[in-house]
Amino acid sequence: MTTARVSFVCLGNICRSPMAAAVMRRLVDERGLDGTIAVDSAGTGGWHTGERADARARAALRRAGYADDHVARQFRAADFDRFDVILGLDAANVRDLTELAPSAEAAAKVQLLRSFDAAAEPGAEVPDPYYGPDAGFDEVLRLIEPACAGLLDALVAGAVP
Ligand code: 4NP
Repeated sequence: MTTARVSFVCLGNICRSPMAAAVMRRLVDERGLDGTIAVDSAGTGGWHTGERADARARAALRRAGYADDHVARQFRAADFDRFDVILGLDAANVRDLTELAPSAEAAAKVQLLRSFDAAAEPGAEVPDPYYGPDAGFDEVLRLIEPACAGLLDALVAGAVP
């Protein structure tokens, strides 16, 4: 029985949000919660729809032992009904999602991913690695991992949505 449906959302859905989804799926699997938490990702932009994740993101995922079977898609207004929690990777993602939300109830589902990392500053973001060096992708993974662990703890505790 699925008890929570979460979607990670960045700009292009080829770097950060596919990485977050891969991290979250493995955490869910490791904790034996398969089938209770459904994990998705999407982008606020649609330029990369249908593409695999960026080769640098896939390489970083493989280096850390994560799956990389992603196909990009754009987040649509109708998706607000399909998810309980919608995690923006950065503040621009949160703003764009909030503007797209068809209702206040839908907008209330949107949260900044790193707000679930107890060690992160308020407002901390996962920066866009797309125009930076390859090492930025490993760094992004290190930011995403504790945030996803905190998110899963909160979901299990019933603290979200
Ligand atoms: P992402 O990175 O939002 O983490 O998937 C980006 C990917 C593509 C572009 C920007 C950011 N782009 O401008 O095409």
